[in-house]
Amino acid sequence: MRVCRGMVWMVLLGANLLHGPPGCVLATPTSSSKQVHCGAGRTAENNKCCKFYDILDDLQTNLFNGGECDAETREALRLMFHDAISYSTTKNGTFMGGGADGSIVEHAEIETAYAENVGLDDMAFEQQALAKKYSIPYGDILHFTGAVGLSNCPGAPRLRFFAGRNKTSKPAPDGLVPAPFHSVDTILARMKDAGFSPDELVTLLASHSIGTQHTVDPTIDGMPLDSTPAQFDTQFYLEVLLEGVGFPGNGSNRGEALSSSPHQLRIQSDYNLARDSRTSCAWQSYITDQEKMNHDFVKVMHKVSTLGQDMSNLVDCSDVVPAPKSLPRFQKSAALPPGKSIDDIETSCAGHSLPFS
Ligand code: HEM
Ligand SMILES: *[C@@H]1O[C@H](CO)[C@@H](O)[C@H](O)[C@H]1NC(C)=O
Ligand SMILES: *[C@@H]1O[C@H](CO)[C@@H](O)[C@H](O)[C@H]1NC(C)=O
Ligand SMILES: *[C@@H]1O[C@H](CO)[C@@H](O)[C@H](O)[C@H]1NC(C)=O
Repeated sequence: MRVCRGMVWMVLLGANLLHGPPGCVLATPTSSSKQVHCGAGRTAENNKCCKFYDILDDLQTNLFNGGECDAETREALRLMFHDAISYSTTKNGTFMGGGADGSIVEHAEIETAYAENVGLDDMAFEQQALAKKYSIPYGDILHFTGAVGLSNCPGAPRLRFFAGRNKTSKPAPDGLVPAPFHSVDTILARMKDAGFSPDELVTLLASHSIGTQHTVDPTIDGMPLDSTPAQFDTQFYLEVLLEGVGFPGNGSNRGEALSSSPHQLRIQSDYNLARDSRTSCAWQSYITDQEKMNHDFVKVMHKVSTLGQDMSNLVDCSDVVPAPKSLPRFQKSAALPPGKSIDDIETSCAGHSLPFS
């Protein structure tokens, strides 16, 4: 940028200050001159964010196998929820977790031993090592890794990422993460205590669109929760509303509901939430609206990833999160799986039919 010499002189002569001398760029308050250069042509709004570009490269190359939407991606996304949800707005006189503080990573040996966190140990310990390697807070590596991981899934929105959580945390107590065999009453009460509405819970369950299971029926390890587990799409919301006809594995396990397909496991709480009058309309609304699903998901995941944190300590490093891959063929609405018809949909939002035939 050329320095605007002679401006005072021009003002004295009554020149139009806003235009300035020829070839001289005047800084305006809204310009993006705040951008800092992080090297390799990358920029960020805050220089505290630059180090996350190095971490991004490490994550994509080593943890996410070259930028895949795979098992590690799913675990990283799930870990964000299991870290944050141990939080209480009422506290009830006791410590009920510090929210999105990375305690599940810092205290992985304690928290991943809890029943609802089984299977998250590898991811938690890998992130623990990364936090140490880059000297960043456990909560920052956790919520950054989840956002980067999701960007590898076609169809996903770009999550926001804020850095600057506390370096240390206390282990969250056991029993605060919802279980697949919990009733809707129990789940909604736990979510409400953590600060989330029924609608927000339904939004968050878009994550199951890329989900698989390992523990509900261990005989079918890796069984997906919808027909497109490598795509972040609306199929999950539609398929959970299809009539259940059988079990994909060795029968009815705790936390498992009848599934519409031999190639998917249906979680009992997903089945219930899709049909409960408190959540069914929000559920159904996503089936035909990928943009709304993505838009809402970003909003509520931002809440998840900053839960219980002091926002005045955090800096917005969202610009480091990559733009996600798009779907091979964008579909606003889910499609009925082959062999299924509108009669198989257990429409549960009164008065709202779905546009399928
Ligand atoms: C009512 C609340 C929820 C319940 C009861 C629930 C339950 C479950 C269960 C039982 C599994 C299968 C785990 C296994 O067998 O390994 C699962 C998978 C998963 N959940 Fe949830 N979940 C809930 C909410 C969420 C939320 C809010 C998120 C993220 C925002 C999330 C993300 C995931 C992901 C990504 C997977 C796939 C994990 C994998 O494939 O390894 N879940 N969930
Ligand atoms: C508060 O604590 C009491 C006694 O431990 C317990 O019965 C009650 O369910 C708790 N309430 C909440 C909202 O956790
Ligand atoms: C399915 O197999 C698992 C692991 O062997 C076992 O724990 C579970 O009880 C079995 N479930 C049914 C319904 O047979
Ligand atoms: C962060 O740590 C400080 C100092 O220990 C503490 O006062 C503060 O409450 C912590 N903030 C959060 C959000 O846990």
